[in-house]
Amino acid sequence: MSNYKITLLKGDGIGPEIVDEAVKVLNKTAEKFNFTVEYDEALMGGCAIDATGMPLPQETIDKCKASDSVLLGAVGGPKWDNLPGSQRPEAGLLGIRGALGLFANLRPSVIFEPLQGDSPIKDEIIGGKLDIMIVRELTGGIYFGKRGRCDHENGTPAAWDTEMYSELEVERIARVAFDMAMKRNKKVTSVDKANVLESSRLWRETVIRVSKDYPEVELNHLYVDNCAMQLVRNPRQFDVIVTSNIFGDILSDEASMIAGSIGMLASASLAEGSFGLYEPIHGSAPDIAGQGIANPLATILSVAMMLRYSLNQPEAADAIENAVNETLKTYRTPDILSADTKKVSCSEMGDMVCAAL
Ligand code: IPM
Ligand code: MG
Repeated sequence: MSNYKITLLKGDGIGPEIVDEAVKVLNKTAEKFNFTVEYDEALMGGCAIDATGMPLPQETIDKCKASDSVLLGAVGGPKWDNLPGSQRPEAGLLGIRGALGLFANLRPSVIFEPLQGDSPIKDEIIGGKLDIMIVRELTGGIYFGKRGRCDHENGTPAAWDTEMYSELEVERIARVAFDMAMKRNKKVTSVDKANVLESSRLWRETVIRVSKDYPEVELNHLYVDNCAMQLVRNPRQFDVIVTSNIFGDILSDEASMIAGSIGMLASASLAEGSFGLYEPIHGSAPDIAGQGIANPLATILSVAMMLRYSLNQPEAADAIENAVNETLKTYRTPDILSADTKKVSCSEMGDMVCAAL
């Protein structure tokens, strides 16, 4: 029987509540599919700052590296908002992405059938269906480039950040996107700003070169501003979108809202090989923390992604996604409640998904 070691980074705000529900569902799934899971917990984000003075203690990196994969809740909150950039909870998140080599961020934007009609996009445009996979480069670009403060030539204080991509970085993320497209609808849209940025021109050239190894995949290119517009104008034209760290950050928030609720979307951050970190794409929602009303489904669906991409348990992953779909027909947390469904708490939602399993 397989046994998996998972490190839990519960984090801040609603992080601990939603991770607890995801663990409940993972344990139930393990029982059903005949594997076992061992958990270890580590600190990252605001809770780590409070306990150790640092957002990402070395011990956390070591524990993550010693596990098969990592499940993260969310980090950050107003308590730590006034700290300098390098000491904020978010620095822990960027730090762990870098330290674990998590260069490929998969952000699926899908609409579960019971939530059709909840998209803010008109029905005739969205057609009740959406299945976009955003592949975001996660350890390069302007997030990790040199930055600093200086004096501007006009004499006033100034600040700068740098966007830099190597061919190797673009090539490996492009391969992730093309491999993904081969398992889906064989279409990749590469998003850049090649009409202005030199780094985008290298990005585009490299993606075109990689595409030669995938003759079955249709490749097209969009400038990021046009892509932002196309996502709203005709979201169903997309299959896989591949883009840089910062463009992916922005476009994935847009795509999540098109899908109806940010409380529903999961993500995977993958290293070379099968190691990955899994987290909901929403934040720590400090305003509702501790009230038991958070929606744990994005974290539960992140566990499904973990089973699919890191633990090689595709049937277990399907089972969780089907159980979520079933549960949504009757039970909803307040953020997605509709007139004909029953309101449940965060922990009742976890119970209902377990029951549906
Ligand atoms: C995300 C978040 C992070 C990012 C923040 C919290 C640093 O917005 O995962 O999309 O910008 O990558
Ligand atoms: Mg973001």
